Amino acid sequence: MNACLHPEVAKRLADCGQSHLVDHLAHLDPIAGSLFAAELAGLDPVMLSELFQGKSLAQPLSLKQLEPPPIASAQEDPAARAVGLQVLRDGLVAVVLVAGGQGSRLGSDLPKGCFRVGPVTGATLYQIHAEKVLELGRRFGRTPPFLIMTSRATDSATRAFFASHDYFGLKETDVLFFTQAEMPALDRATGRVLLEGPGRIFSAPDGHGGCLAALSRQGWLDKLSALGIQHLFYFQVDNPLVRIADPVFLGRHILAGSQASSKVIARRHAGEKLGVFASVAGSCHIVEYSDLPKEMDEATDRSGGILFNAGNPAIHCFSVEFLKRAASGNDLMPYHAALKKVSHWTPQHGIQVPARENALKFEKFMFDILPHANPWLLVWTSREDEFAPLKNADGADSPAAVRVAQSRLAVRWIQAAGVSVPTDGAGNAQVPIEIAPSAGLEPADLDPSMLRAIDWSRPVLLKS
Ligand code: UD1
Repeated sequence: MNACLHPEVAKRLADCGQSHLVDHLAHLDPIAGSLFAAELAGLDPVMLSELFQGKSLAQPLSLKQLEPPPIASAQEDPAARAVGLQVLRDGLVAVVLVAGGQGSRLGSDLPKGCFRVGPVTGATLYQIHAEKVLELGRRFGRTPPFLIMTSRATDSATRAFFASHDYFGLKETDVLFFTQAEMPALDRATGRVLLEGPGRIFSAPDGHGGCLAALSRQGWLDKLSALGIQHLFYFQVDNPLVRIADPVFLGRHILAGSQASSKVIARRHAGEKLGVFASVAGSCHIVEYSDLPKEMDEATDRSGGILFNAGNPAIHCFSVEFLKRAASGNDLMPYHAALKKVSHWTPQHGIQVPARENALKFEKFMFDILPHANPWLLVWTSREDEFAPLKNADGADSPAAVRVAQSRLAVRWIQAAGVSVPTDGAGNAQVPIEIAPSAGLEPADLDPSMLRAIDWSRPVLLKS
């Protein structure tokens, strides 16, 4: 037995079917052995064994319980806007961006936020988000703290990217990086923890739901409270159209006394890769597209429309008090298991490249916190206005599609300002158009007299 492993840890591992890890430890040199022993001491083999047996995993909801949820209309709400503007002026809002995903569908090792998507400037997703936060600070005299969740895979590249771009004009102290935890992957047949290499467990980010535990464990929720922050605006890195800290949304969230509010977009068709909102006995749920039962996915209403038509663009506002309570409650969010192909290492055979899905990975989803919110609020928004995610290398949700969506949005804003701009008749701009956050965060910010002077025959960048 290796001296660096506490006998109780070794026994717990063996009792839970993980004795191969203890055996492996005995073959490592002292330095690698002590690092591996520390990793083993941090494992919770009982929980892993329960997850392998399907306990503590998200359970499918019974179809009979699910109903289309109530959703507030998208219309302008002056009272809500006034409240939202006031909390921004008072500095009661922070912004959290989840950026721990590896963007594997894009076929790149770079963090997704480093992708260039600006239709004219080639601005990266990180730049677009950061400049929106910068503009909020310029307008309201208080820059919302900008929290960015990274993972082991994205952390150093993300920090270096922000540093090398001078934080896109933000103060370094306004950008707060925090890193999510990881979960070991298990062999799907045996439940044994897989190894990445000698003395290294194979682990992967614990899902964006890891955001809550990371914010809490690393003291961010308490720090935000100490700064007087009451509301957290939450969004995903892949969507350049997101209206960060939208004052009307914030105001509605506050006026409703909501603990968790979410924007909703209409699903285009059954099978679309969007989580779907539903209510269950008065609480709010999102059923992830990969878990969506066919009957729910394809159910229609009396007029033949999609019954569960509320899609999730992953834009939320949470009360900080609610998050603190949720973080202190025991394991409010279940894990979701996913079968994946994982190349791994064994002492007997070295690197193994599987032909089929061989591993179980476990993730928490932030939206699993929604059922614990009361009251909660859903608000419609239009996809064209707020949702164009970068997911794939080609086709739908590709960099090209995301650029087109930004130019289309620019056209809509310019037209809303009463200025005509040449389009192809289907709403697509004839030249790329980009609105930098400094020129406007919403249509009413654009200055029609400035727009009228523009030559629309060449790519146009609007910025102040
Ligand atoms: C996600 C939502 C889906 C929603 C869609 C909208 C989930 C499980 N599903 O799907 O309901 O309709 O976006 O675009 O989220 N991330 C982390 N850490 C992780 C994993 C992911 O920070 O461990 C971040 C990613 O960086 C990204 C976001 O979470 O910003 C979403 O991840 P992604 O894998 O792209 O989710 P989708 O399957 O597209």
